[in-house]
Amino acid sequence: MTTTHTNTTTSSKRKRGYLNLVFFFFCLLFSCSSAATDSTPVGYGYNLLSVTADPSGDSLIAKLRLIHDSPIYGPDVKNLHLLASFETKDRLRVRITDADSRRWEIPPEIIPRKAPNVILRSRRETLVLSSGESDLILTLRRTSPFTFSITRRSSGDVLFDTAVAGITPGIVFKDQYLEISTSLPGDRASIYGLGEHTKKTFRLVPNDTFTMWTADIGSANPDLNLYGSHPFYMDLRSSPAGATHGVLLLNSNGMDVHYAGSHLTYKIIGGVLDFYFFAGPSPLSVVEQYTDLIGRPAPMPYWSFGFHQCRYGYKNVSDLESVVAGYAKARIPLEVMWTDIDYMDGFKDFTLDPINFPADKMIKFVNQLHQNQQRYVMIIDPGISINKTYPTFLRGLKSDVFLKRNGVNYLGSVWPGDVYFPDFWNPNASIFWAEEIANFRKTIPVDGLWIDMNEISNFIDPSSENKLDDPPYKINNAGVQRPLNNKTVPASSLHYGNLTEYDVHNLYGFMESKATHDALVNNTGKRAFVLSRSSFVGSGKYAAHWTGDNAATWNDLAYSIPTILSFGLFGIPMVGADICGFSGDTNEELCGRWIQLGAFYPFARDHSEKNSARQELYLWDSVARSARKALGLRYRLLPYLYTLMYEAHLKGRPIARPLFFSFPEDKQTYGISTQFLLGEGVMVSPVLSPGTVQVEAYFPQGKWFNLFNFSQMVMASSGEFVTLDAPEDSINVHVRGGKVLVLQESGMTTESGKRSGFELVVALDEGGEAKGEVFVDDGEVVEMGGEVSEWSLVRFSAGVEGGEFKIKSEVVNGTYALHERMMVKKVYVLGLEHKVAVGIHCCSNGGSSGVPEINGLSLLLGEGFELKVKVTALSL
Ligand SMILES: *[C@@H]1O[C@H](CO)[C@@H](O)[C@H](O)[C@H]1NC(C)=O
Ligand SMILES: *[C@@H]1O[C@H](CO)[C@@H](O)[C@H](O)[C@H]1NC(C)=O
Ligand SMILES: *[C@@H]1O[C@H](CO)[C@@H](O)[C@H](O)[C@H]1NC(C)=O
Ligand SMILES: *[C@@H]1O[C@H](CO)[C@@H](O)[C@H](O)[C@H]1NC(C)=O
Ligand SMILES: *[C@@H]1O[C@H](CO)[C@@H](O)[C@H](O)[C@H]1NC(C)=O
Ligand SMILES: *[C@@H]1O[C@H](CO)[C@@H](O)[C@H](O)[C@H]1NC(C)=O
Ligand SMILES: *[C@@H]1O[C@H](CO)[C@@H](O)[C@H](O)[C@H]1NC(C)=O
Ligand SMILES: *[C@@H]1O[C@H](CO)[C@@H](O)[C@H](O)[C@H]1NC(C)=O
Ligand SMILES: *[C@@H]1O[C@H](CO)[C@@H](O)[C@H](O)[C@H]1NC(C)=O
Repeated sequence: MTTTHTNTTTSSKRKRGYLNLVFFFFCLLFSCSSAATDSTPVGYGYNLLSVTADPSGDSLIAKLRLIHDSPIYGPDVKNLHLLASFETKDRLRVRITDADSRRWEIPPEIIPRKAPNVILRSRRETLVLSSGESDLILTLRRTSPFTFSITRRSSGDVLFDTAVAGITPGIVFKDQYLEISTSLPGDRASIYGLGEHTKKTFRLVPNDTFTMWTADIGSANPDLNLYGSHPFYMDLRSSPAGATHGVLLLNSNGMDVHYAGSHLTYKIIGGVLDFYFFAGPSPLSVVEQYTDLIGRPAPMPYWSFGFHQCRYGYKNVSDLESVVAGYAKARIPLEVMWTDIDYMDGFKDFTLDPINFPADKMIKFVNQLHQNQQRYVMIIDPGISINKTYPTFLRGLKSDVFLKRNGVNYLGSVWPGDVYFPDFWNPNASIFWAEEIANFRKTIPVDGLWIDMNEISNFIDPSSENKLDDPPYKINNAGVQRPLNNKTVPASSLHYGNLTEYDVHNLYGFMESKATHDALVNNTGKRAFVLSRSSFVGSGKYAAHWTGDNAATWNDLAYSIPTILSFGLFGIPMVGADICGFSGDTNEELCGRWIQLGAFYPFARDHSEKNSARQELYLWDSVARSARKALGLRYRLLPYLYTLMYEAHLKGRPIARPLFFSFPEDKQTYGISTQFLLGEGVMVSPVLSPGTVQVEAYFPQGKWFNLFNFSQMVMASSGEFVTLDAPEDSINVHVRGGKVLVLQESGMTTESGKRSGFELVVALDEGGEAKGEVFVDDGEVVEMGGEVSEWSLVRFSAGVEGGEFKIKSEVVNGTYALHERMMVKKVYVLGLEHKVAVGIHCCSNGGSSGVPEINGLSLLLGEGFELKVKVTALSL
């Protein structure tokens, strides 16, 4: 864009203005489609009036003035205030809002962050903000319209640039329409994120629109806006290879983000432009920097890493009992039994169906689970049934905590029929909710809660009454510009504090997650397990997520990987898809392949829909075999998974990660959606299509050892595709040379394996070295890594040198392992030539695993130790 608009003659300008006004009213009446068909631009942008910066180079403030009104989507805001500030060395914030009146922004009590009102200690005119410490540089331009760019100091690479050839007026800022674009270097940028959507690939494909408006739309539908909103993306550059940055638009309003390859455009229907740029430069560091802002993931209890079974449609308590018995009989580990809405009396939260799920039988059932060291999780929905004999409803009414429209409680309709929805912005709603949970737990001591339908889902279509219900720009809701109100509560309903649903819609699941998490922690005094369908930026602080209503198809199996990897980027590492598929009948082959993959989801739950065939894993012999094998390895890996949980909680690092997280310089990894890593070095390569007993897997450079058979190794001297056998009951899982993994024995529950003593798998790299660590605590203490007596972090390093294998441990933190007298009883050494002789009595050469193992040990995990073993005929 150039300055031509300021040069047009007054008369032609007026004439066009008049026509635009007509067009505008026409649009109001007939709700034109989002694309302005007319040649009139949606905005003309702003000019830079002034800029003042703090001499430290940490922050600046600029004033912008509208160039010229455009009538499309309503009048433009006249004056904008731009704040740019380095909040940390790796995080640059650029916030643009109306200079003259306050607009909706997510309150800092909800997502804690720095206040935007920086005080400039003295003033300096400059167009460049560059803090000595940071790799990011912000440059403002005195062009008309005004634009800005962000570059990487170390490489000169342009990361974000609002000047985009031919398509943008820089910034459009109206009450109900904001637009801004950034140019991208085409193929050189791989973009990930912008959820929640089901996508065929993890790397986003250009010419696609990502709509964010939380909706009860099944995840079986690719490319539509789903349950959560995460306006965050990661941009991985192929040159310099692996350089990565992240961009968050912290905004809770509905929006479309169009990704066009050469650029990306945000079209938002409210709020402010509040961007946070994360410098990286590695993918892992971007997620660390992102979660440093939005909040680190909540620690999940150890038991939640066991296997979960659920179904919508369990008939009664004996049905539940027979499922639990079915797992035990088939020797498939079952940690957690779940119940969907079937248990409720008339679908009312915190009630029990007196016929099929009566309290006495339920109590007996749950007590029995607890005696077996198993757990129980139940669902609750936000809609509270309107029923004069329902105490929860009466208490909610009395505390006046329901969402309102036009001054009265908004009447919605969900499973129980007529309902009101608790308004979690009202502080009394959290108290109400916590008391209902505490009351219910007196009857049924549930171990965790599943909060569903919290987009909010509504079975009716509320009428449109005003411009909040029916804004001038139609986001691509449900892929058909469906009205905002469709199947949810009206955008014009009001929350506590006079907040409009229009502004806070995308935050409902977040607010309910927080209230539920806090209620459980308070009531149990233990770490909470909350599973939420709807999520927003920062939800990971409170809840886990599953991918929602998928279907029992091979596509849904494959697409679960991109979604799970995306949630790792969003700071919600505890995530999984319904194993074997939710809707539609699954089949033996699909279910078998699904449990092979699902056993390595961070959150592993089998769940199905009422009208579909039953799919408990013991129902087919071959599926049961797959389950025993794959879950057997999962349970062996629990100390590793749990250590990854600690890393996630401490630093925000995902549990399930794309391959490029460990191999950012290997461009081949950028497009991989069919394999993933657990942590740094355990790679899962599942079969995702029917009728095959092979898998074509990519191996980044290194030695990779099969975790089902330690003596099988893939040596990739550079990255390469390898065809692996994948018989019907098998999945390929490899550990990369260089890792020490801490395993426990497999058991029927997470608890039983925990007591068995640890085994170390030392996978040596080409140089004969390996490292690893393990985190231990009691699995449910509220704080993960709190009081030193409650946990231990132990680090291992191993190597072969001078005919000697040596492994050394160091207790980094905590005294828990010592106090509990936790032991290491066995060490496997992978990467030594098979036929080596090892020279001390504790060692056997090629034991049951076919690789050298050192057994009969009893080394205290809680004390540093050093173990040396002579290795003759050493050959790496
Ligand atoms: C996206 O659209 C542009 C312009 O129509 C086209 O040149 C480009 O090839 C498209 N890219 C993809 C991946 O479809
Ligand atoms: C539980 O439901 C099943 C299936 O409908 C039925 O056959 C069984 O009789 C029920 N058991 C009890 C105790 O109600
Ligand atoms: C209210 O709840 C009671 C007890 O479950 C039920 O019998 C009754 O049908 C419900 N009334 C309405 C209007 O849903
Ligand atoms: C919350 O409940 C308390 C006690 O009933 C009441 O005094 C207070 O006004 C309520 N607060 C709000 C915001 O409604
Ligand atoms: C709302 O959604 C439903 C289901 O998707 C659809 O049938 C209906 O036509 C929609 N209503 C409007 C007004 O678009
Ligand atoms: C509440 O919000 C509505 C709609 O945004 C507005 O008209 C009204 O003035 C507000 N009331 C208060 C007390 O702020
Ligand atoms: C925790 O629970 C107790 C007892 O139920 C209650 O009095 C207290 O207000 C709760 N605290 C919070 C923070 O919810
Ligand atoms: C492990 O792999 C080796 C080498 O391929 C093979 O000889 C052995 O039979 C396998 N062990 C098991 C238990 O499958
Ligand atoms: C753990 O130990 C390391 C190394 O001594 C120390 O830097 C760190 O602060 C400790 N962490 C905690 C949470 O105590």
